[in-house]
Amino acid sequence: MRALTFQKPYRLAYEEVPDPALETARDVVVRVELAAVCGSDLHVYRGHETGLDIGTVMGHEFLGEIVDFGASVDTLRAGDRVVSPFTTSCGSCFYCERGLTARCIEGALFGWVEGGEGLHGSQAEYVRVPLADATVTRAPEGLDPEVALLAGDVLATGYYCAESGGVGPESVVAVLGCGPVGIMAIVGSLELGSEAVYAVDGVAERLELAAELGATPVDLADGPVERLHGVTEGRGADVVLEAVGSPEATRLAVDLVRPGGTIAAVGVHTEERFAFSPVEAYDKNLTYRAGRCPVRPRLDRMLELAASGRYDLGRIISHRMPLSEGVRAYEIFDQKLEGCTKVVLRPDAD
Ligand SMILES: NC(=O)c1ccc[n+]([C@@H]2O[C@H](COP(=O)([O-])OP(=O)(O)OC[C@H]3O[C@@H](n4cnc5c(N)ncnc54)[C@H](O)[C@@H]3O)[C@@H](O)[C@H]2O)c1
Ligand SMILES: [Zn+2]
Ligand SMILES: [Zn+2]
Repeated sequence: MRALTFQKPYRLAYEEVPDPALETARDVVVRVELAAVCGSDLHVYRGHETGLDIGTVMGHEFLGEIVDFGASVDTLRAGDRVVSPFTTSCGSCFYCERGLTARCIEGALFGWVEGGEGLHGSQAEYVRVPLADATVTRAPEGLDPEVALLAGDVLATGYYCAESGGVGPESVVAVLGCGPVGIMAIVGSLELGSEAVYAVDGVAERLELAAELGATPVDLADGPVERLHGVTEGRGADVVLEAVGSPEATRLAVDLVRPGGTIAAVGVHTEERFAFSPVEAYDKNLTYRAGRCPVRPRLDRMLELAASGRYDLGRIISHRMPLSEGVRAYEIFDQKLEGCTKVVLRPDAD
C-alpha cells in the first residue's frame, strides 16, 4: 500500500510499504477513508520528540471501513465504518476500568514504532487496529465523516482539557493556543457553561476561528496577562487551558492563572523541566493537571456533541488533500502557510 512515513526531522516519504495484516485474533484492519494531521505529529516532524524508527507510518487520526477482522472480534464486522481514538485500549485493565484508557497497560499509540515495537499509523491506505472491540466505535450514520473524524482526537482532547480544568458557569477561562485542540477546548468550555472564554494565539486566522465560536480573541502580542488581569480585578484567570506544548506556553499559563486556580495542560511537552518553580506553585496554591486524553470513554459523547450541530466543527478544516500530497501537507500545517488550520488527507483521492 501507499503510506506517509517518517525518514528524519522535516523529511517524510510517500512510499510503498507492506499492507498491514491481522496479527492477533482481536485485531481489525481498516481501509482509511480520512486521515488528519495533528499538532502532535508536528513534535515528531520537528524532531522534538525522538525515537521513532525510520519508515514508521505517521498519523493517528482516522476514520475508515473495516475490511478484515480477527476471530475474537465480537462487536465489529467488515463494512463497519469506524472512528478511532489515537491510542488503543483493552477496556479491562486497572486503568481502562478507571477511565484512563490513555494509560492502558496493553495500549499503543498509532504512528509510534520504536526499536521495532509499536504500532504503525493511519496516514496510509490501511491501518491495523489491535484490541479493536474496546478501541474503535462506529461512526454514526448521517454524521459528516470529517466531523466524526475530529471526535477521535481534537474534540475529545479539547473537551477533556476543559473538564480537567474544572470549568463551570462561573469560570473565567484562558485558552492558550487556538490550533484545533485549543479551538475544541473553547467548545468544551462553552459546553461546560463558561461565558467568559479568552483565547490566546499569535495567528490571525486561528484567533478568528476562536472569535467565531464566541471566545474573546487575545493576540499574544497584545499583553494577554494585562488583558486577563484587567477583566478579573487583577486576579487572573480561574482556569488556564494550555493547548500548545512549549515552555513559553507553560510560563504564560502560570502568569495568567489566579491564586487557587487550575492549569490544565494537554499540550505535549518534550522539555525536561517545568517552566515554573515549586515556590511559584506554592505561592499561587496552584493546581496543575496534564496528560494524554483518554478518548475512548468520551468518544460516543463527543460524537453526539458533533452531531448536535451546536458548533460548526468542520470549520477548522482548512485543507483537504490526497494522501500523495502528504509531504506538502505537513509543510503547510507546520509553517501555517495558506491560512492552514487543519489538514485532512484522503488516500482514495490519488
Ligand atoms: N494531550 C493529548 O491527548 C493531546 C491530543 C492531541 C494534541 N495534543 C497536543 O496539543 C497541542 C495542540 O495541538 P494542535 O493540533 O492544536 O496544534 P497546533 O500546532 O495546530 O496549535 C498550536 C497553537 O499554539 C499557538 N501558540 C504557539 N505558542 C503559543 C503561546 N506561547 N501562547 C499561545 N499560543 C501559542 C500556535 O500559534 C498554534 O496556533 C500540541 O502540543 C499537541 O501535541 C495533545
Ligand atoms: Zn493528535
Ligand atoms: Zn486497558
